[in-house]
Amino acid sequence: MSNTDPKRYTITSALPYANGPLHIGHLAGAYIPGDTFVRFLRLNGKDVVYVCGSDEHGAAITIKAKQLGITPQAIIDRFHAQIRDSFEEFGIAFDIYHRTSEQIHHALSQEFFLNLYEKGEFIEKYSEQYYDEEFHQFLADRYITGTCPHCKNEGAYGDQCEKCGTSLNPTDLINPISTLSGKPPVLKETKHWYLPLDKYQPWLEEWLIRGKKNILKSNVYGQCLSWLKAGLQPRSMTRDLDWGVDVPLEEAAGKKLYVWLDAPIGYISATKQWAEDTGNDWKKYWKRQEDPSEDSCLIHFIGKDNIVFHCIIFPAILHAHGEYILPENVPANEFLNLEGDKLSTSRNHAVWLHEYLEEFPGKQDELRYVLTSILPETSDSEFTWKDFQARVNNELVAILGNFVNRVLVLSEKYFDGRVMEATRLDAEEEQVFAELAAYPEQIAHSIRNYRFREALAQLMNVARLGNKYLADAEPWKLIKTDAERVKTVLNAGLQIAANLAVMAQPFLPYTAEKIFNMLQLQDRGWDQAGKPDLLRPGHQLGT
Ligand code: 2FM
Ligand code: ZN
Repeated sequence: MSNTDPKRYTITSALPYANGPLHIGHLAGAYIPGDTFVRFLRLNGKDVVYVCGSDEHGAAITIKAKQLGITPQAIIDRFHAQIRDSFEEFGIAFDIYHRTSEQIHHALSQEFFLNLYEKGEFIEKYSEQYYDEEFHQFLADRYITGTCPHCKNEGAYGDQCEKCGTSLNPTDLINPISTLSGKPPVLKETKHWYLPLDKYQPWLEEWLIRGKKNILKSNVYGQCLSWLKAGLQPRSMTRDLDWGVDVPLEEAAGKKLYVWLDAPIGYISATKQWAEDTGNDWKKYWKRQEDPSEDSCLIHFIGKDNIVFHCIIFPAILHAHGEYILPENVPANEFLNLEGDKLSTSRNHAVWLHEYLEEFPGKQDELRYVLTSILPETSDSEFTWKDFQARVNNELVAILGNFVNRVLVLSEKYFDGRVMEATRLDAEEEQVFAELAAYPEQIAHSIRNYRFREALAQLMNVARLGNKYLADAEPWKLIKTDAERVKTVLNAGLQIAANLAVMAQPFLPYTAEKIFNMLQLQDRGWDQAGKPDLLRPGHQLGT
């Protein structure tokens, strides 16, 4: 993050395809980091809008519909609702969870296309593409199967052979077959509108290499650099598809805007809808302001498969349009694996969020805790149930839970659940409060640099600090010899517990709320973190 202190933030998390439920890989890629960051900003009183929504277009949806034998509309209605509910249940605090099938989104995507079209930004090109004569339609790459020219796998797709991993063009396939009719497709000429990324290459190099080298995470910057080095090529912004946003030109009947000019515009249309619903001005969050210091700070949380999209293609679109702000940062995560294998929706190798909650009702923070601890921030990481169990039992329960429980139980036992006055601050308390005071800035620094694992580890160190303080002071022994001193010890212990609640809020929202309730304390902003007097003497704790 740059040093300036923006007035306003526009935060996005990748629009998931509404073609299946969410799994832990989604959470670890783009949503837990985004949500933690947003919660932190809000605790600091920042003006933030956090938007997301379902990506309801493209071959991913129509293929799923075909598999299940229902309409694309039925697919998106079903999965949009399920995905929205999962996000809500896990506390992902979007201001709006929108959907790209809404009219407001279609209109804005078409407006973007026309803006670039009228400026003459597109190159119009004819090419030959596979067409199914029986179904009278051009075929998306995924709708064509055939034999892989490299490994001879007979079930390769038009965009990729899943056996040998090679990416393919449909015309590379030997004996191509349309999955619609089961017959060989024919090549037919079609016209499309291409964004000349090669033309924007010098501008992108300036913006990325000069402007973002020390801002982007190294995994993100590295990918951008290798794309720039390879040389950018024009990319088609339209497709011959039967499901999506219509290309708003008479001569393009039947053609749709491709994902590049659809999904990321969804961030903007979601913000527009939110602004309409709440009486806000969406332009403040997306358009360049007369005074650049008034520009909103745009940050995209995504997974690594969307890096080129958000660091090269979408910025080029925004730049070509001219009225919009550009992303300040794109803190993309790598992939999360599950028990030694890639997560896969199609192979059903996943921990589905709705199934997790059926199995572990009310245990959202347990999963949030474990996933934050293992976020694939710099390289791929691995979820295993054994590790999940160990982290929950040995860390969340044994360290944080145990500390809060001990200090509350002792306060109940010795002082009827009242906060006693700290009558005698000894060197131990001075030491513990000095250490406590340093944590808010340390945690904030890690969060501001998108190092959420490190930030969570520091939060756990606050709990460790509390445990060590209690273990050293031994109030359960002291009560027999120096009851007066126990008042101070438990006061200090409770102040640490209150601090844990404040600082846990970005990561573990349900746990933070639970601790606030136990302490009978109103939730507090980040400016209160690190203070030794969050609880007043005489205050009655909850049970
Ligand atoms: O890759 C995907 O999951 C697509 N739905 C696009 C996500 S990024 C976007 F929203 F811009
Ligand atoms: Zn192959």
